[in-house]
Amino acid sequence: MTKPLEGIKIIDFTHVQAGPACTQLLAWFGADVIKVERPGAGDVTRSQLRHVKDADALYFTMLNSNKRSLTLDTKTPQGKEVLTKLIKESDVMVENFGPGALDRMGFTWQYIQELNPGMILASVKGFSDGHHYEDLKVYENVAQCAGGAASTTGFWDGPPTVSAAALGDSNTGMHLAIGILTALHQKNRTGKGQKVAVSMQDSVLNLCRVKLRDQQRLDALGYLEEYPQYPHGEFSDVVPRGGNAGGGGQPGWVLKCKGWETDPNAYIYFTIQGHAWAPICKALGKPEWIDDPAYNTAEARQDKIFDIFAFIESWLADKTKFEAVDILRKFDIPCAPVLSMKEIANDPSLRKSGTVVEVDHPKLGKYLTVGSPIKFSDLTVEVTASPLLGQHTNEVLADLGYSQEEIAALHDAKAV
Ligand code: COA
Repeated sequence: MTKPLEGIKIIDFTHVQAGPACTQLLAWFGADVIKVERPGAGDVTRSQLRHVKDADALYFTMLNSNKRSLTLDTKTPQGKEVLTKLIKESDVMVENFGPGALDRMGFTWQYIQELNPGMILASVKGFSDGHHYEDLKVYENVAQCAGGAASTTGFWDGPPTVSAAALGDSNTGMHLAIGILTALHQKNRTGKGQKVAVSMQDSVLNLCRVKLRDQQRLDALGYLEEYPQYPHGEFSDVVPRGGNAGGGGQPGWVLKCKGWETDPNAYIYFTIQGHAWAPICKALGKPEWIDDPAYNTAEARQDKIFDIFAFIESWLADKTKFEAVDILRKFDIPCAPVLSMKEIANDPSLRKSGTVVEVDHPKLGKYLTVGSPIKFSDLTVEVTASPLLGQHTNEVLADLGYSQEEIAALHDAKAV
């Protein structure tokens, strides 16, 4: 069976996380992704946070599966020649260098278009072109701060807080993948390539759009009814940090379960869905709240929402997070246990669905990684090991038409 992106050739000029997450996704779906890396060094993540001596770090292996690796020094004349040939034969080039690096290498967008008018050049930068910070180099947490996530995450009495989720890196890579697939679809109709650019700040902001919603509501009303600051606390003129409040119209909170004193993750997330008030009362053994006007509307509950959460915590005191969810699910209450990474690694459902997969690597041995979160009816995504540095150099050069002698000369010149 052919894979959806089979036949699409991608020059993967990416490193660290934002770019590699994008190209890994495209490789899973069948594209031929050729990771171009500096000879001798490669992507910096190969050696960052290693836990097995001389083997590629998990940081690298978990973001570069299903790819081929070509070492190439694109600052040498021979390296530039190889890259030129690759550009002529490829459909997409993805890069996330610091601002201006590709131009300094001699491969401007104009020149790439001259070499291959069908080329799609996809770039990640910290900030968008023309932005007053366009010259900045950016990593994950910088983007979370610039994109509005940090100022709105955490508790009101603590500092701005970054999320563990890679909102700046992998999230930007996912946005870029959507851009690339859109440009490929357009190219199928017109034959023309185009430049696709995604900034990390914009991608974070795209996920924080409800906070921009809240800023406008706050400007108009002076308060935000779904935040813990309402109605007893104070609002300033900026969206506050809301702790674990449920950001939409459904109040929710992280609640302690049996064992919380010793287990840092003995908690559930509990949501009070407005129309599910009756089942919630039944589940909690509080039928008298169902029709009580002091409780039976969201508005009535608002000023005592934390008293209600405290009551639910007393109900949870003798139940583990899993026991609690097993009871609450029967009443259709949106809730989940707070899962640790250890629990996620061993979760049978995640293994069965291919979301957590075990991969065998020639140097690292067996390791776990996150498989495709996108499931298809006609494609089973198979995750294969990430390539060793330069593992496919000779193979890719031969594909480009280089003879064995020419390949040897490129090695001698240290261009590959
Ligand atoms: N051969 C020769 N030179 C190469 C090369 C190759 N195969 N691959 C990279 N280089 C060179 C680049 O041309 C650049 O040279 P120059 O600056 O002298 O022109 C140099 O390596 C450094 O590249 P750069 O990307 O600036 O690396 P850095 O380690 O200084 O910065 C980042 C890293 C991530 C901060 C930066 O790349 C960046 O801001 N990227 C955009 C946003 C982003 O993706 N952030 C990371 C999210 S995980």
